[in-house]
Amino acid sequence: MKRLDGKSALITGSARGIGKAFAKAYVAEGARVAIADINMEGAQATAAEIGPNAYAVHLDVTDQASIDAAIASVEAKTGGLDILVNNAALFDLAPIVEISRESYNRLFSINVAGTLFTLQAAAKSMIARGKGGKIINMASQAGRRGEPLVAVYCATKAAIISLTQSAGLDLIQHGINVNAIAPGVVDGEHWDGVDALFAKFEGLQPGEKKAAVGAAVPFGRMGTADDLTGMAVFLASREADYIVAQTYNVDGGNWMS
Ligand SMILES: NC(=O)c1ccc[n+]([C@@H]2O[C@H](COP(=O)([O-])OP(=O)(O)OC[C@H]3O[C@@H](n4cnc5c(N)ncnc54)[C@H](O)[C@@H]3O)[C@@H](O)[C@H]2O)c1
Repeated sequence: MKRLDGKSALITGSARGIGKAFAKAYVAEGARVAIADINMEGAQATAAEIGPNAYAVHLDVTDQASIDAAIASVEAKTGGLDILVNNAALFDLAPIVEISRESYNRLFSINVAGTLFTLQAAAKSMIARGKGGKIINMASQAGRRGEPLVAVYCATKAAIISLTQSAGLDLIQHGINVNAIAPGVVDGEHWDGVDALFAKFEGLQPGEKKAAVGAAVPFGRMGTADDLTGMAVFLASREADYIVAQTYNVDGGNWMS
């Protein structure tokens, strides 16, 4: 018996990166997984790579009709949603005096409103079905404290930790566990973009910021998406039934809270 046998999961932003690694791990544990992403071509390629228990679903987490359609398509395909991972998010970097309203609105719309309203739609679906469920939000060490150039992203991730607490306390009465994972620095395409932004604002060479943040991790290196899959499977499994409204650091020792 695998840990997620027969479960139906939807992972937002899983065409690549951490969400893709979670999708592979969930399928390996017996789940069927909707690769739900705004990048449909990427989602289809990822689903094909993972195999028949992964399927692509178009999802823009900033669009309520798209969220509702994605949840409905999972219900139609699998009979009901058991696990949601709110993983889609964007990053940006700017000194306080240069932050634009456009960047603020874009990040809050995807990272915070996208998480809240996808969580809400999933919770409605799970409550109507009456079998409970698991919802996992992606926070970040960036949500644990601010950083000089990262004000908006840090604020979105602090909001995720807070939303996880409120939703966790509200939804446990329906047997729905809401928890979050706070990664540290995870290598991949996302961090390639982060590195390029730091290079621009801190006058660094490409790769320099990555090397510095990796060397500063107590474990001795940046994380990989695969370093996070154990926690993602655990929080989606029955072993986590008694865990409510928590955010777990999986960051090689960067943060303690
Ligand atoms: N990589 C890290 O170092 C790190 C650290 C801490 C937390 N996180 C968090 O982990 C999660 C995944 O990070 P990642 O590194 O895999 O990111 P990523 O940029 O590699 O992947 C993000 C995915 O989200 C999708 N997406 C973007 N906008 C969308 C929208 N409106 N609707 C649906 N999908 C959309 C993208 O197409 C992409 O596939 C994010 O929440 C991120 O904030 C990452």
